[in-house]
Amino acid sequence: MSFWWFWTQAPVVEEALDEDLPKIAEIHAASFSHKWGAAELARMKAQKGVNILIARRSSPYGTGTPLGFLILRRAADEAEVITIAVHPRQRGRGIGKKLMEAGLFRLYGERCTHLFLEVDATNEAALLLYRGLGFKEVGRRKGYYSDNGGDGTALVMRIDLR
Ligand SMILES: CC(C)(COP(=O)(O)OP(=O)(O)OC[C@H]1O[C@@H](n2cnc3c(N)ncnc32)[C@H](O)[C@@H]1OP(=O)(O)O)[C@@H](O)C(=O)NCCC(=O)NCCS
Repeated sequence: MSFWWFWTQAPVVEEALDEDLPKIAEIHAASFSHKWGAAELARMKAQKGVNILIARRSSPYGTGTPLGFLILRRAADEAEVITIAVHPRQRGRGIGKKLMEAGLFRLYGERCTHLFLEVDATNEAALLLYRGLGFKEVGRRKGYYSDNGGDGTALVMRIDLR
């Protein structure tokens, strides 16, 4: 079996393991100006209602490294996207969409009614992803982001699951 086989396999989405956290921190650092270290991610992962999903290629040679991650927090019958990021070299290949779909599927199965998120109004790639999945804008927060060079407006978006 050649390495080519490995690279042609579609990524799978699964629950992050503790050993994935350093790679998740690396993807986070490559995606956002504020950094979350592995220790901070571990604290988050231990919180009630928090799930960290990762996409990785299945591999006959061992566990594949994370290509992207999604962090969700659930409280009662509502949930929020804490953050999502895909490694810069892996973007535009459907991984972000696959992570979000897996998260939505899971929340639907848990009888969650709504999923909320906040997104920088200038983040075109994220907006394309969220709108394509059916998220609708339900509010705006001016000055929410301080480091994006724009006016910092955050769009609050929601998708109804029930
Ligand atoms: C936002 C992000 C997670 C998207 O992940 P991705 O794996 O590149 O997205 P996908 O390949 O699954 O694309 C999903 C959809 O958005 C579109 N899209 C995503 N990025 C795009 C881009 N840069 N230009 C045009 N379209 C884009 C895709 O065409 C696709 O549309 P489709 O469903 O109609 O085919 C990724 O760009 C990222 O990690 N950004 C940095 C972190 C970030 O901003 N996170 C969001 C915080 S709110």
